[in-house]
Amino acid sequence: MLYAVHGGVQDVRSVGGWGHRVTLRMPFASTPAMPIKPHSPSCDRNQDPILDMLRVHFADRRHALEIGSGTGQHAVHFAAAMPWLTWQCSDAEAYLPGIGMWLDEARLPNTPAPFPLQAMAVPAAHFAPQPVPMPAGGYDAVFSANTLHIMGWPEVEALFASLPTLLADDATVAAYGPFNIDGAFTSDSNRQFDDWLKARDPRSGIRDLEAVSALAEGIGLQRIADVAMPANNRMLVWRRGTIEAI
Ligand SMILES: C[S@@+](CC[C@H](N)C(=O)[O-])C[C@H]1O[C@@H](n2cnc3c(N)ncnc32)[C@H](O)[C@@H]1O
Repeated sequence: MLYAVHGGVQDVRSVGGWGHRVTLRMPFASTPAMPIKPHSPSCDRNQDPILDMLRVHFADRRHALEIGSGTGQHAVHFAAAMPWLTWQCSDAEAYLPGIGMWLDEARLPNTPAPFPLQAMAVPAAHFAPQPVPMPAGGYDAVFSANTLHIMGWPEVEALFASLPTLLADDATVAAYGPFNIDGAFTSDSNRQFDDWLKARDPRSGIRDLEAVSALAEGIGLQRIADVAMPANNRMLVWRRGTIEAI
């Protein structure tokens, strides 16, 4: 399931199984700490190759939801380059201030305030479902970069299982990151990365492309692209509904 919490939104649809997990840190000093704008060097490196793909696959899209926006760098880069899109950021609550700093600084007209959203594989009864901001008809584009190997596999399953509640009938879904093919790492660096991930969190790890695609197909998505990207990453793109030639 995916969990979210957001208030004060006019156009919302209540999505079953969504809720929130919030991390709050209390300051030790009486003087408020100056927030630091987060920065990811890897976003600097991968944002243009990713943008090249999104320009094609999101060319006729209107409302994009990003899951796991991280620093917010991708959002600013992509929203500026694709002004025909509204780019909606989301992530765990703790990430939202940093994302907000990037959005506030860029002052783009097509980046609404980020909202908290997490895929969580827990019984819905443990959390009160909250409304998720939704454009009329649902999001016709979903993008997520470098998230599927961070969350546990049950969360990956929960993410795909919950997507239909968010998607427009003809939605495009794009996932970027490292993937294994036929159960094998595609590079030594990906193998080392996987070791590093698992040492940090045994539930994480590079996912099999076929297993992720099976989840996508299970919710009625058809894969329309599988493209090798720099640094042993891939871009997977699926489409919901009838597929026309792109
Ligand atoms: C490696 S960072 C990638 C951030 C950004 N997309 C990028 O490419 O730089 C992984 C992101 O996945 C998010 N994430 C981890 N588990 C998640 C979950 N269960 N649901 C949604 N997002 C999650 C994290 O909060 C974090 O922002």
